[in-house]
Amino acid sequence: MANCEKGEEEVKMDKMPLLTPYKMGNFFLSHRVVLAPLTRQRSYGNVPQPHAVLYYSQRTSKGGFLITEATGVSDTAQGYAHTPGIWTKEQVEAWKPIVNAVHDNGGVFFCQIWHVGRVSHYDYQPNGQAPISSSDKGLTPQLKSNQLDVAEFTPPRPLATDEIPLIVNDFRLAARNAIEAGFDGVEIHGAHGYLLDQFMKDSVNDRTDQYGGTLENRCRFPLEVVEAVTKEIGPDKVGIRLSPFGAHAEAEDSDPEALGLYMAEALNKYSVLYAHYVEPRIVKSGVQAETSHSLLPMRTAFKGNFISTGGHTKETGNKAIVEGSADVIAYGRHFLANPDLPKRFELNAPLNKYNRETFYTPDPVIGYTDYPFL
Ligand SMILES: Cc1cc2nc3c(=O)[nH]c(=O)nc-3n(C[C@H](O)[C@H](O)[C@H](O)COP(=O)(O)O)c2cc1C
Repeated sequence: MANCEKGEEEVKMDKMPLLTPYKMGNFFLSHRVVLAPLTRQRSYGNVPQPHAVLYYSQRTSKGGFLITEATGVSDTAQGYAHTPGIWTKEQVEAWKPIVNAVHDNGGVFFCQIWHVGRVSHYDYQPNGQAPISSSDKGLTPQLKSNQLDVAEFTPPRPLATDEIPLIVNDFRLAARNAIEAGFDGVEIHGAHGYLLDQFMKDSVNDRTDQYGGTLENRCRFPLEVVEAVTKEIGPDKVGIRLSPFGAHAEAEDSDPEALGLYMAEALNKYSVLYAHYVEPRIVKSGVQAETSHSLLPMRTAFKGNFISTGGHTKETGNKAIVEGSADVIAYGRHFLANPDLPKRFELNAPLNKYNRETFYTPDPVIGYTDYPFL
């Protein structure tokens, strides 16, 4: 049947599922194509730079949802060159024009707050101290994404039990700062082998205190962060990203399904706005694999809004929305290379290819704001 013969209701249903509106808590999203958090390493001195105004504006659409690159919560949170922070007044002020630009273009903007834990080197630490973690287990050197350079890591120092509230407090203050900078909310980075994941995953966490051992104990610190942040800025402004199935930065779990499910159920108690799960097919950066695992049990257990990310195409995103396995979909590499990704989906236009070599280079333009629009 041709469209012209259909009633209005039916024609509306023809709209691509990814491009249908969605009310996420208090936010009215005009479509479901989310900008995933993407570290771009162009924030010199850990301070967001004016060129980020253009970068984020390019990827903003009216009613679109954007998440910032991972943003450090303190001076011990860093592990890479030129990643932004949100613990100083200068950083908060530097975020303001970027947030304003996204808002001026009609976007909803969350700040991803982050602590790398042991994925660091004493060069990035205050006074050249050892990075912190759940354990003293160090990371083996890893090939960087350009497949040429090797990242070295300094063996970490396990946090003492009574130090953990101090890090919880850093997350709380970072969330407060994010709101002061104008962000609509924060996403707690609980994924990819960084500090919170180093507590959740049993391949790293070998503690014998109340933060180690059982699943409940390993999830205690991340959930304390969730509690502190939701109390500080309100649960309707808080999301969390989790990658239970991931093996990033040598952080793996022997029972990822149980971990993902435990967190989904525990998060319900805090009424957070969304849970953002990385698809099991994403093993670690740049590595994707077929898997029989699925996020469906977590999607079903979690009562809030559900974001799925990792390896999505337009087709898999649409399918996930139709099937109800996610409410919105976060796109990383495609959104990085296609500032007008929702438009391209709408027009069924071809996508620019991403250039892995410039993902993390510090240039303020090349590989950053020079990807062409349609
Ligand atoms: C250049 C680059 C930087 C990334 N930085 C972050 C980050 O800061 N925080 C995060 O949670 N994930 C980060 N990721 C992961 C992405 O958010 C996303 O989950 C991943 O790329 C898989 O989605 P995709 O297949 O749509 O790219 C990064 C990925 C890439 C390619």
